Amino acid sequence: MSQLKDELISKLNNKTAKLGVVGLGYVGLPLAVEKAKAGYDVIGFDVQDKKVKMVNEGHNYIGDVVDTDLAKLVKEGKLKATTDFSFVKDVDTVSISVPTPLDVYKQPDLSYVVNSTKSVAKYIHRGMLIVLESTTYPGTTEEVLKPILEESGLKCGKDFFLAFSPERVDPGNKKYKTKNTPKVVGGCTPECTEVAATLYRSVLQNDVFPVSSPAIAEMEKILENTFRNINIGLINEMAVLCNRMNIDIWEVIEAAKTKPYGFMPFYPGPGLGGHCIPLDPFYLSWKAKEYDFHTKLIEASGDINDSMPSFVVDNAMKLLNKYEKKAMNGAKVLLLGVAYKNDIDDMRESPALKVIEHLEANGADLMINDPFIPKFKHKDKEYNTVDWKEVIDDSDIVIITTNHSCYDYEEIVKRAKLVYDTRNATKDVKNNRNKIHKL
Ligand SMILES: NC(=O)c1ccc[n+]([C@@H]2O[C@H](COP(=O)([O-])OP(=O)(O)OC[C@H]3O[C@@H](n4cnc5c(N)ncnc54)[C@H](O)[C@@H]3O)[C@@H](O)[C@H]2O)c1
Repeated sequence: MSQLKDELISKLNNKTAKLGVVGLGYVGLPLAVEKAKAGYDVIGFDVQDKKVKMVNEGHNYIGDVVDTDLAKLVKEGKLKATTDFSFVKDVDTVSISVPTPLDVYKQPDLSYVVNSTKSVAKYIHRGMLIVLESTTYPGTTEEVLKPILEESGLKCGKDFFLAFSPERVDPGNKKYKTKNTPKVVGGCTPECTEVAATLYRSVLQNDVFPVSSPAIAEMEKILENTFRNINIGLINEMAVLCNRMNIDIWEVIEAAKTKPYGFMPFYPGPGLGGHCIPLDPFYLSWKAKEYDFHTKLIEASGDINDSMPSFVVDNAMKLLNKYEKKAMNGAKVLLLGVAYKNDIDDMRESPALKVIEHLEANGADLMINDPFIPKFKHKDKEYNTVDWKEVIDDSDIVIITTNHSCYDYEEIVKRAKLVYDTRNATKDVKNNRNKIHKL
C-alpha cells in the first residue's frame, strides 16, 4: 500500500491527480470549484441532467460559488460534469456529497449514499481515494461504504483508500467559505488519513485536522450540529417562557452576550430549518438505539423546535384578535420569507413552510413574499410569491419569518397595520415601533 500511497501523494502534490466530486449541490459544487481553482482537473458527477448541463454551460446555480469562477474553469476545461459514472475510471479521488435526509419516521435515509457508492464501486480502481463528506451517523463509512466498495474485489487500506471528512460549509456565510473552513479527516487506516489530508491541504487554505478513525470524524460533525440544535431548542424554550412572562428575549440575549466567556448567543425563531441542523441529530438518535441508548436532549430539543411554527401562528391569531378585532379565518396575512435563513434561496425544512401550513389550516388569506424564491412547491401545492410592496397596504398582519437583509423594514413597518417579527429583523426600525410585536 505504501507504494500506492506515495504515488497518489506525489500526484496530489504536483497537481497531476484527476479529482472527482459526486453530488453537485450546495456542498459538492463549491468543493468542485475549489479543487479546480487549486489547479486540478475535476469531474463532477450528478444524477440530475439539468445540473450537469448547467455546469457544462458554465452557468452557476449555487449562491456560494462565484459565477465568473465557474464559467472560467469550465471554459479552460478544468471542470466538467457528467451523469456517466464510467468516468470514475479516470479519476484518482472521489468525494461524495449527496443528500442524507430522514424518512417520514425520522430515520436515516442512506439511499443516496448507498446508490452513489454503488455507482463508484463499479469503476473503482487500485490506488484510488474515496472520501465521504455527507453528514451521517458514526459507523457509516466502515459499515456501509467499505463493504460496497470491497464487493469490487479490492481491499480497503490495501488496494484503495477510504476516509470520512465532514463538510462544514455554512451557506451564505460571508466570512467562512469552503476554502477557509478547517477540515477534519478520519481514514480507515493511518495511510487513508494521510492521503485524504494531503488532498484537502492541497486545495484549501485552512488547517486539516486528522483524527484516528472515520467514526471520530462522523461523530464530531454530529456533535457540532447537535450542539447547535440543542442550544436553539433551549433559546426557543426561553422565548416561549419570556413571551408568557412579558420579557423581551432579544434584549435578554443582548445582555447575556456581554459576558466575555462561557456564553455563546443563539437566537429564537419560528422553528429550525435547513438540510442539516434539524436532521443530523436524529441520525445519532437512531444509531444510539442500537446501543440501548436514548438521546433525551435531542428528543426534547426536537419537540420544542417542532412546536415553534404553531406557537407563532397562535400568537399571530392573538395579535389579530387584540389589535385588529379579527379572526385568523379570512384575515389577510402577508408572510415575509420562505427560506430557512436570511439571504439564501434554500427552503429545505424551512419553518416558514410549517407556518404556512398552520395559517392555511386556520383559514388565513395568505400572501407570500421571498425575494430569493419567486415560486415554490410544498406538499404538491404550487405557490407564487407576490411583490410585498403591492399588497402590504391591504394586509391585516405581516409575519416576518426570514430576516432577509434586502427588506426595507422601516417601510414595511410604516405601511403594515400590524407586524409580528419572529426574527428580530425590525430591531433597527426607528418609527412606528408600536406596531411591532416580537417573538
Ligand atoms: N447544505 C449545507 O449547508 C450542508 C452543510 C454541511 C454538510 N451538508 C451535508 O452535505 C450533504 C449534501 O448536502 P447538500 O446540501 O449539498 O445537498 P444537495 O441536495 O444540495 O446536493 C446533493 C446533490 O447530490 C445529487 N445526487 C443525489 N443522488 C446522487 C447519486 N446517486 N449520484 C450522484 N449524485 C447524486 C443530487 O442530484 C444533488 O445535486 C448532506 O449530507 C448534508 O447533510 C450540507
